[in-house]
Amino acid sequence: MRSEYEIKKEICEIGKRIYNRGMVASNDGNISVKLNDNEFLCTPTGVSKGFMTPEYICKVDRDGNLLQANGKFRPSSEIKMHMRVYKERPDVVSVVHAHPMYATAFAIAGIPLTQPIMPEAVIALGCVPIAEYGTPSTEEIPDAVSKYLQHYDAVLLENHGALAYSDSLLSAYHKMESVEFYAQLLFLSKQLGGPKELSDSQVQRLYEIRRQFGMTGKHPADLCQRAKDGQSSCHACGCQSSQSGEADSNALIAEITKKVIEQLGLK
Ligand code: 13P
Repeated sequence: MRSEYEIKKEICEIGKRIYNRGMVASNDGNISVKLNDNEFLCTPTGVSKGFMTPEYICKVDRDGNLLQANGKFRPSSEIKMHMRVYKERPDVVSVVHAHPMYATAFAIAGIPLTQPIMPEAVIALGCVPIAEYGTPSTEEIPDAVSKYLQHYDAVLLENHGALAYSDSLLSAYHKMESVEFYAQLLFLSKQLGGPKELSDSQVQRLYEIRRQFGMTGKHPADLCQRAKDGQSSCHACGCQSSQSGEADSNALIAEITKKVIEQLGLK
């Protein structure tokens, strides 16, 4: 098992990567790692995540209360969002929040990442919804994110950024990279006249491969009632439709957004 110090060093390394890849500007973004049920490491508030050393990293309990911090460092202002993910997803070991340019542009435009355009994104992510806008640092963002946690491993935050979580820090970071790459490709292909989407049967085959790989985490494909019934899923189909009326309306919104984009010739 890795020492706490090793994990702090890895948080700093991932902080450098999100900063150097332009996924955060200035002091933006935050990262956390679960050590055990009541101890979590997190980045401090108000520092550039590209220039951290292990002494910067803070420790909080399961409610986000400070357990340990050096000097003037204090836990991320978004710690409530991180703790909600750990509370509602016991399988999650790490949470990464960033403002990657293309994914955040989609979050600002109100366009969820729902078009199946490349195999890797379909396998790793499925579709990526947008959690409704909330004021940073309040319970509004955790509340908005909560309803997506059981169905997705990455969400966009409306007018804000992106959130990814997984069973290791590296994997949570990779999910963030995948979200941004997917968003970038979707944006560029829209400029080139609109993406040619994968067909339903191609998507189904990719979902099957995902199941065969036994990949961890939640994925819309594992939850889609339509897919279970042998119908097409999941991108923009309303994959949670059998589970809640709220999901129904999200699916409807996604479908209407898709139609409007098509009619405006943006797709
Ligand atoms: P912190 O520096 O407090 O973690 O906040 C950065 C951020 O991106 C808020 O959304």
